Amino acid sequence: MKQTSFPTFYIKHKGVNVLSIPFDSAFVYDEQFLQMTARLNSSTNYGFGEHNHKQLLLDMNYKTWSIFARDVGVVDEWNLYGVHPYFMSVNSMAKSVIGTLLLNSNAMDVHMQPAPYPSVTYRVIGGLFKFYFTIGDTPDEVTQHYTELIGRPILPPYWSLGFQLSRWGYSDTDHLKEVVRRNKEAGIPLDVVYGDIDYMLHKFAFTYDKQNFGDLPDYVKELQANHTHYVIILDPGIGIEKEKIKDINNGTYKALEEGKDMDVFIRSEDGTRLVGEVWPGLVYYPDFTNPITTTWWKSQILDFYNNTGFHFDGLWVDMNEPSNFREGNKAEEECDMESRWNSPPYIPENLLGNSLVDKTICMDSVQHWGKHYDVHSLYGHSMAISTYRALQQIFPDKRPFVLSRSTFAGTSKYAIHWLGDNQSKPGHMTWSIVGMLEFSLFGFPMTGADICGFWFNATESMCQRWTQVGAFYPFARNHNGGNYGGTTHVDQDPANFGPDMIASSRNVLLTRYKLLPYLYTLMYRASERGSTVARPLFFEFMDDDITHDIGKQFLWGPALLISPCLEEDCEKVEAYIPEGIWYDYYGGEKIESRRWHTILTPENQINLHVRGGHVIPWQHPADNTHNSKLHPYGLLVALDYKKEAIGELYIDDGESADPIERGTYDLVSFISTSGKLQIIAEYLGYKSAPNSRIDTIEIYGVERRVSGVEIDEGTITNFTVKQDEILTIKVEDSSFTYLTNHTIRWFSN
Ligand code: GLC
Repeated sequence: MKQTSFPTFYIKHKGVNVLSIPFDSAFVYDEQFLQMTARLNSSTNYGFGEHNHKQLLLDMNYKTWSIFARDVGVVDEWNLYGVHPYFMSVNSMAKSVIGTLLLNSNAMDVHMQPAPYPSVTYRVIGGLFKFYFTIGDTPDEVTQHYTELIGRPILPPYWSLGFQLSRWGYSDTDHLKEVVRRNKEAGIPLDVVYGDIDYMLHKFAFTYDKQNFGDLPDYVKELQANHTHYVIILDPGIGIEKEKIKDINNGTYKALEEGKDMDVFIRSEDGTRLVGEVWPGLVYYPDFTNPITTTWWKSQILDFYNNTGFHFDGLWVDMNEPSNFREGNKAEEECDMESRWNSPPYIPENLLGNSLVDKTICMDSVQHWGKHYDVHSLYGHSMAISTYRALQQIFPDKRPFVLSRSTFAGTSKYAIHWLGDNQSKPGHMTWSIVGMLEFSLFGFPMTGADICGFWFNATESMCQRWTQVGAFYPFARNHNGGNYGGTTHVDQDPANFGPDMIASSRNVLLTRYKLLPYLYTLMYRASERGSTVARPLFFEFMDDDITHDIGKQFLWGPALLISPCLEEDCEKVEAYIPEGIWYDYYGGEKIESRRWHTILTPENQINLHVRGGHVIPWQHPADNTHNSKLHPYGLLVALDYKKEAIGELYIDDGESADPIERGTYDLVSFISTSGKLQIIAEYLGYKSAPNSRIDTIEIYGVERRVSGVEIDEGTITNFTVKQDEILTIKVEDSSFTYLTNHTIRWFSN
């Protein structure tokens, strides 16, 4: 048969082919091997996860990435915890962007090829070729469509936007108390602390070590009384070792007994319960795809919450790839490797361990949704949903906070994600930006890496730089490894370092807290419309090819450019300033655009630039989000070439469920044109804002030296002008709030 006789499937956008799939001789559709190639109309592609990609722009040079959920440290470009068979293709000439999702949970390879034309080849070992395409003019528009398809991300509670401290290896409650004490004393703003597996007895879920952490429930109450939240880890594996169970509740381990009674655990093909090994030793694995398991999980969580007085605010679910320290099934020593599920005819090319069962359970085991072979990569997704439901039951009126290590396309409707076990090395700080931006693409606005690194000990200078970058991760948590694998990890919370590091961490975190109203407004847009929060530069400047490969700088929304120092002893940063008018965030000075700059970056500073045309709402910061919310607001109005700017502010009580659906929020818009700023209360549904006052308005880029200012037609005198361009207005009238509309005018003689 001649090649030309094969049919080809085309996708066009504005008359241009953006993707074509030739059903040629390379097309294979078999039960355990599906292969096809799609021709792309661009070499500029992003996404496919979860991997530790070391650059943002996908390497097209005959590169193969395998995709399959896997517990492994973030070191190389191997398959990691989650599964996102999604990529975005950008063609700036044709002004088209296409997002392509292969909705398939089987293990697969994606192979990128530059010639004879850019293409992607999928090799998948099961399921269907079920593709979804989202097409638009801009990357943000495509992400909006994509999240409409997979589910819009949750709006996280306001407190979870605050700084968070975590470590594996708190020896007892006193250790945790000391960490919290010294950071508070050092003025480090703090909103959340975590309990890793240390709090558990023998690392069994739903237990706690009363000897070392007996006073933890009381301390948690104390933390909460001071507006600090407490999140605990829960792993899926339910311990079964009798020797350990002896010590639990007079030898009765309820989670196990009830789980057996309700038949929630995954069984092998022969009907016996599958046994693996994780932190508690030997374990059974709950099958979260079975609705009965959600009932059981909810009841264990509720019981733990009610009967132990252990009043956590959120849950962190881990090891849910699912992880197994022994290959396959401990009960039978190994999986049946004669089985075509455990040893399929094709194994993805770059799969870590070169085996599907490496560090996980047997593929021929049986789950409610199907064979583990088919649903393996949905384990974390199903666990996140069950955990979300459990928290809904405990806190019916609140937004659940679930942090999950393993995710699938759409998990962001239920959980947020951190990037897993990285290392305390500068390279990892750099790659974390790529990871965070890729998760933005996947529809997860609330992500971040372990600040200062998980494995190994962080040096002070690197941790200082990492805290600066981490202050701009949407999810800002410093987390550290336990004493494991021969490394003793010392505490790496900011206050455990020297005075310079402490001062610079305090400053940068206070800058974050100051900007939280802007960050939260972006989170609102992400959950309401599917826009991104941490944004690659190409999202805003797609026409400028230079931005396509920038993965060391990023934006918050459209308006704030973050150009961090990513090396331990770096003194300067090579930063690209894209088109438009840009102002130094701190001083308001303009910086030339559409070129690279070498910016001297003292060790206590992170480079931030504000884009003309935008209004950034902020709030005088305090030591936690609760106290920050008591303070008045300010506005940073950055004017563009036309002397215009727009922006908005979204506010709610920060924790109630479904504020958008229930209309319990305030939305205010800001419009600046021709020497005036209008503050417009678009919608006022949040009746009890602790503070709605605006006391400072800074305008960057005013035309000439301002000689007069009027607010709502009344002349005011409390304003200053710097370098003829930066106008700062102090509004003394305490009744000046965003609850009514206002017009502020400035003029020159
Ligand atoms: C896993 C998690 C890590 C956690 C550790 C102990 O390695 O990724 O964050 O601290 O388990 O629970």
